[in-house]
Amino acid sequence: MTSNKKTVAEKRLYSILDVQSAKKVASIWLEGAELENAIDFGLPEVDDRYHVWRVPLLAKSNGVRLGEVVIDARNSLILEGKSTNPATLEARLLGRQERPISPRRVSHKSNSKYELSDLRNTIAGGDCEEILQELPAESVDLVFTSPPYYNARPEYADYLTYDEYLLKLRKIIHNTHRVLSEGRFFVINIAPVLIRRASRGEASKRIAVPFDVHQLFIQEGFEFMEDIIWEKPEGAGWATSRGRRFAADRNPLQYKAVPVTEYILVYRKKTAKLIDWNIRAHPNPELVAQSRIDDDYERTNIWRIPPSYDKRHPAIFPLEMAEKVVKYYSFKKDVVLDPFAGIGTVGRAATRLGRRFILIEQDMNYVNIIRDEAKAWMGPEARNILTINCPPISVDDTLL
Ligand SMILES: C[S@@+](CC[C@H](N)C(=O)[O-])C[C@H]1O[C@@H](n2cnc3c(N)ncnc32)[C@H](O)[C@@H]1O
Repeated sequence: MTSNKKTVAEKRLYSILDVQSAKKVASIWLEGAELENAIDFGLPEVDDRYHVWRVPLLAKSNGVRLGEVVIDARNSLILEGKSTNPATLEARLLGRQERPISPRRVSHKSNSKYELSDLRNTIAGGDCEEILQELPAESVDLVFTSPPYYNARPEYADYLTYDEYLLKLRKIIHNTHRVLSEGRFFVINIAPVLIRRASRGEASKRIAVPFDVHQLFIQEGFEFMEDIIWEKPEGAGWATSRGRRFAADRNPLQYKAVPVTEYILVYRKKTAKLIDWNIRAHPNPELVAQSRIDDDYERTNIWRIPPSYDKRHPAIFPLEMAEKVVKYYSFKKDVVLDPFAGIGTVGRAATRLGRRFILIEQDMNYVNIIRDEAKAWMGPEARNILTINCPPISVDDTLL
């Protein structure tokens, strides 16, 4: 007799439905840690309170339980912070006393010095979720980006639902965690979105995107550092009709503030090491000295910067903002990544400040603008930029 009873995973519409799939995901992780010859799996269990699969890890030699791999059942990503660290697994396999470890992944570069990334300036066309997988682990020193907006109107939306939008961002944050060096920063410019009402009978809505995205950073192994408020000077933002009704009627409850701020949220890839380590262990102290910040730095978490407009792109951030972030959170010659590069403001800031850049953008019109702009930023040097999924940059010296 066949039972048509649904499993928990099926009821919850998880992307991992059975123990075989959970083991498959876990074995990819195990191979990445080069432990597949020493470790077997126990019976995976689904835990629908936390929407995860737990895959027990057993020593092949004696079946002793060493730890577990925890997989997000909804999107099949490994939850590094919740899974047993490979270094811990190795120590347990060898019967060694465990060293105190960070609650998250321990870096392979955890010796006293780290290596400088050998990535060169790069412009890549395509979906950053995929391109990020091509970059070596821990090869990027700073991420600064502003993600695409969530637009709830189905006729313009790239994402069918808000959950789908958040899932996409989560995968990108996850993939970025891998390429970011130990203890380095991910800075994101982000703001709540206003969903205009579709008809007179409906209310407009604000979605608190930064607070949802904050959760994703924490779950993906980042530590919260700063909430910087980008305040646009009076005038900017007032074009929105928000608050007009209240201004006329002045009824309580109808009060609506005109948004004139956005967030610049700062996260650090979680590590047990202090920021001081990132400075002291830098292999070239001269570069550290050259990167010291002048006296005119921002003293508070309110940065007043006029917004920028460019007719070629609807949502660029100001060069001044990118320059502050690059200066405050990277050293000279560092590699700065923008996975949602737009027309490449981060690349321009990085070049002006003597850093390298990795720019990923899926819209080929913007990629071509970056390829063109790079010649103005860099002169003949632009021909050395590595291009991925787009033609190399040819520089006609007579035009420079
Ligand atoms: C808010 S804009 C960034 C603008 C940029 N900060 C600048 O100053 O030019 C976000 C960009 O992300 C790009 N984008 C959206 N989804 C993407 C994806 N999956 N991979 C790469 N780029 C993407 C969009 O085409 C858009 O240009």
